[in-house]
Amino acid sequence: MAGAIDELLRRIAAFHRSRPVVPEYPMVAEVLEALDAASSPTLVEARYLPVLRHLEAVALSGDESVDAVLEEFLSLAASLPWIHTAGYRGVLSQEFHDNYGYVQLVGPKSIVEHRCVRVGIAVWGPNLHYPSHHHEAEELYHVLAGEPCFSTDDVRRTTKPGDAVHHAPWQPHQQDFGATPTVLLYCWTGAVVADAALVGAD
Ligand SMILES: [Fe+2]
Repeated sequence: MAGAIDELLRRIAAFHRSRPVVPEYPMVAEVLEALDAASSPTLVEARYLPVLRHLEAVALSGDESVDAVLEEFLSLAASLPWIHTAGYRGVLSQEFHDNYGYVQLVGPKSIVEHRCVRVGIAVWGPNLHYPSHHHEAEELYHVLAGEPCFSTDDVRRTTKPGDAVHHAPWQPHQQDFGATPTVLLYCWTGAVVADAALVGAD
C-alpha cells in the first residue's frame, strides 16, 4: 500500500514536471520539494465515501501525464481515506456530500504530514454546483477528468483534462461540474492549515 501511494506521489511530481513552466506559479517548486521528500506510512486505513461510486464512469484523457496519475489513483482509490471538509457539514446539502469527496495525500493531518503544502485529489459527481468559497492558501488545480467550469468575480472558464486553474490567497471561486464526473488534482501552499470556507460563512 505504501509503495502504491509513493508511486502515486511520484507520478504527481512527474505530472507537474511535464507541464510548461508558468512563471506566475512559483508555488510549484515548493510542491515538488514536498512531493520529492514524501514517504507514505506502511499502514493507511481506507475510509469509504459515497462519491467513490462515480469513479467507474471516469474516462482516461489521452494525455499521457494526466493518465499516469489518473490510472494509479483509480487503482488505489478504494483503499484510501476519503474525507469531506469538516466545516461544510450541515452547511452544504446532503446531496452535495453524497457526490463529493477528496483524499489528502500531503498536508496537515494527511497521509503524509506536511505543514506548508497540501496535495490531494478531489472528485465531484455530474452537474453539482460548488458555491463561492475561499481560503488563505494559494491554490493550483489541474483537471484530470471531466469538464468543470470555474468562476471567479471576473472570469468564467470551462476546462478540460490537463488544464490548470490558479487561485490567489482569499480569491473567491466557485465551480459548476459537467455531465461527467470531475477529478481534480489540487495543490496548496502558504497558509494551508485552515480549510476552505464558503464566502459569507466565516
Ligand atoms: Fe479552492
